[in-house]
Amino acid sequence: MTQLTQKPPMSQDELKTLVGQAALHYVVKGEIVGVGTGSTVNKFIDALGSIRDQIKGAVSSSEASTLRLKALGIPVFDANDVGELAVYIDGADEIDGLGNMVKGGGAALTREKIVAAQSRRFVCIADESKLVDKLGCFPIPVEVIPMATSRVVRQFAAMGGRASLRLKTGVPMVTDNGQHIIDVTGLQIADPLAFESTVNQWPGVVTVGVFAHQRAQVCLLGTAAGVKTLDFQAPEKTGALIAY
Ligand code: 5RP
Repeated sequence: MTQLTQKPPMSQDELKTLVGQAALHYVVKGEIVGVGTGSTVNKFIDALGSIRDQIKGAVSSSEASTLRLKALGIPVFDANDVGELAVYIDGADEIDGLGNMVKGGGAALTREKIVAAQSRRFVCIADESKLVDKLGCFPIPVEVIPMATSRVVRQFAAMGGRASLRLKTGVPMVTDNGQHIIDVTGLQIADPLAFESTVNQWPGVVTVGVFAHQRAQVCLLGTAAGVKTLDFQAPEKTGALIAY
């Protein structure tokens, strides 16, 4: 009698590996690729190492990603020394059905937004736990200049949110840019574009971790059935599965 064997469910780590590898399809050969930050992007960087001879190099969004890229022999360029990039690959803490995202769980939001803005296409890589109907369950990171922290916290309170300073080993966390991060809970983001524009105008805010102006064009979503492609520009293409 034939025994039917069921595939065990994939772990979150395996889903991240899957989408990290799938993102290689979007890397333009002979060019410089924009590289984000985080545990999912680390899988992409590892995969990128296997085609390092086919790309010119990378523009990185954090010191951590720069170290990882360089360790694999991938040249890292300063954003100021290169022009527009074809593609930026990065993870997200939340992504909605239009490609708007919350980012900055890894505190790299400002540089991530800069490299995303410098790129023609944002390809988000994420496991399916990151897909939400509405942004705002994940605490929204905001990079602030330290002297503005209390005022920005009060401004969020006036909106109905609760903001707290992110700590690392008991002291305020310092970003790659030498600034602080506050994390905001209790807000549902009905209009991500308007929210991002408003908060970014507050004095002392370096950037808010809502990516609506720099939203993703494509998301490679790791699911139990394989990698699902969400194409926000051509929704009819959404649903294509790259099986594993
Ligand atoms: C870092 C980010 C990351 O993309 C985001 O936090 C997702 O990280 P991970 O892939 O580890 O879940 O915005 O600032």
